[in-house]
Amino acid sequence: KRKTRVHHLQTMKAEGTRWAELTAYDYSTARIFEEAGIPVLLVGDSAANVVYGYDTTVPVTVDELLPLVRGVVRGAPHALVIADLPFGTYEASPEQALTTAIRFMKEGGAHAVKLEGGERIAPQIAALTAAGIPVQAHIGFTPQSVNTLGGFRVQGRGDGAEQLIADAIAVQEAGAFSVVMEMVPAELAGQVTRKLTIPTVGIGAGNECDAQVLVWQDMAGYTNGKTAKFVKKFGSVGDELRNAAAQYASEVVGGSFPGPEHSF
Ligand code: KIV
Ligand code: NA
Repeated sequence: KRKTRVHHLQTMKAEGTRWAELTAYDYSTARIFEEAGIPVLLVGDSAANVVYGYDTTVPVTVDELLPLVRGVVRGAPHALVIADLPFGTYEASPEQALTTAIRFMKEGGAHAVKLEGGERIAPQIAALTAAGIPVQAHIGFTPQSVNTLGGFRVQGRGDGAEQLIADAIAVQEAGAFSVVMEMVPAELAGQVTRKLTIPTVGIGAGNECDAQVLVWQDMAGYTNGKTAKFVKKFGSVGDELRNAAAQYASEVVGGSFPGPEHSF
């Protein structure tokens, strides 16, 4: 089995082969996703929500994300592991972006980083790429900007289409190896995908992107409450885990666990 590298994703774009990206936040799940053959794992700042329980991704810090990256890298030796740069750790300057990204590469063992923004963040992408750090860009709905975007809304509608296309071209020209497009009309995402030479990774961006990404808890049915329209639930991990925990507790209380076969 080969280790996934950035140039493999480039080749797949050229060949028209789709691939799946998934988030991961720890060793145990990364191992499962490695076994499932997921080539690209993102330690998303969505850890803010699904690991730490914050309402948005805004408060999560590098110190909170770094240990998660270490676990994922150890669990999935063949995956390309991308570390998401948290809000406030790269926007100020290319130098700030470099300092943060280098921590994720050196201390976390990540193979690439992701950051949010198009044209406005192109200088950061160029600086990271020049320093040998592959960058996955993220345009369309960018959750770290939820406060300026006015909530979780589809981006690139009407006049927004031109800006979205400009952002996609800007990140490609700055050297990004791929670009996530979040909550973008399917037709526009298809248009951008055909225009770019780097792979597009859709989330709520229709079926014409080169790849797709989902938060694994959404994908596997391990979220509490309502999920976005773009989510498909491919399992019922939450129900499974709840049932297992309840069964365990009931057998402990009832005295049937541990049985003789579990005893010395
Ligand atoms: O943080 C995250 O999980 C993400 C993906 C869903 C694209 O940014
Ligand atoms: Na993110």
